[in-house]
Amino acid sequence: MKIYVAPLEGITGYIFRKTFNEVYGGVDKYFAPFITPSEKCAVTPRDKKELSPENNKGIYLVPQILTCRSDGFISAMKELKDTGFNEVNLNLGCPSGTVCAKGKGAGFLPETTALTKFLDEIYSAGESEGVKISIKTRLGYFDPDEFYDLAEIFNSFPVSELIVHPRIRGDFYKGEPRKEYFAYALEHIKCPLVYNGNIYAEQDYKDLCDLFGTDLDPVMLGRGLITDLSLADRLKGKDTSDAAAKFRRFHDTIYHEYQKVMSPDINVLYKMKELWSYWAAFYEVNSRDLKSIQKAKKYAEYEDVVYRKVFGL
Ligand SMILES: Cc1cc2nc3c(=O)[nH]c(=O)nc-3n(C[C@H](O)[C@H](O)[C@H](O)COP(=O)(O)O)c2cc1C
Repeated sequence: MKIYVAPLEGITGYIFRKTFNEVYGGVDKYFAPFITPSEKCAVTPRDKKELSPENNKGIYLVPQILTCRSDGFISAMKELKDTGFNEVNLNLGCPSGTVCAKGKGAGFLPETTALTKFLDEIYSAGESEGVKISIKTRLGYFDPDEFYDLAEIFNSFPVSELIVHPRIRGDFYKGEPRKEYFAYALEHIKCPLVYNGNIYAEQDYKDLCDLFGTDLDPVMLGRGLITDLSLADRLKGKDTSDAAAKFRRFHDTIYHEYQKVMSPDINVLYKMKELWSYWAAFYEVNSRDLKSIQKAKKYAEYEDVVYRKVFGL
């Protein structure tokens, strides 16, 4: 089976990807958190660094573009092609207020006429440039029934893969995914389809496969993979008896990698704290230790809790 790593802005940047690939590996595609082309600059120097081949060695990376302007999308796609990418992804799912207010991400979904024109333009450019364009979408903005029209629109373009996160914008990332709409997608979407949403354990994956009566392959993992870094290994049936050692190695590596490129301590610790907010439940960190991690301002304070109390060293 194929496993894709979901883009999580602020978390799955190049340092995460590099560390994950080094310690775990075994996933088939990494989707980079979105870049937003502006009129002045399609791909910023910061985006270039994030997506550069040196920083993404040995992995299959798909850059993601968030915009509602075809000229910006096409300029970014061309620049990305020049750095070696032959696949890009369109973000039609971001629920953030500021993004949606500008008609981007999930905010583009209700504008079906403009969306159709946009897709027409980017897919023509994609074909002439030889770049595949996949889409990551929600079911709709206001109402999941919007998906019926969206499905027809997506079916009229050469979408290389459609990743469906079966929620509407107002669901943000909460509640149960609206699985019945993914069942509709399985029946009606013509291009390769990828499920994404709330897979935290092997059982979640199995339940979904049972429900849909088919193996979800490929499947995209987001928060579940951050929470349990061995989840992809488990789903692929690998031996995970060394999961605790791998977790330690992952922790130490990413902590030191962030230190190489960030300062002062608090900036690195901000990154680590965000990871611990996912790890705490899975690794059964007690609430007092978690609070101490979240309060740490200096490496020494952080290391005292993590190494002495959590890892018991
Ligand atoms: C902190 C955070 C950042 C995210 N950033 C992005 C992003 O840059 N692009 C995108 O398409 N989705 C983004 N997402 C959505 C995830 O890719 C994924 O669709 C969502 O978390 C649901 O999948 P999951 O339940 O497996 O996590 C983000 C989600 C979170 C929680």
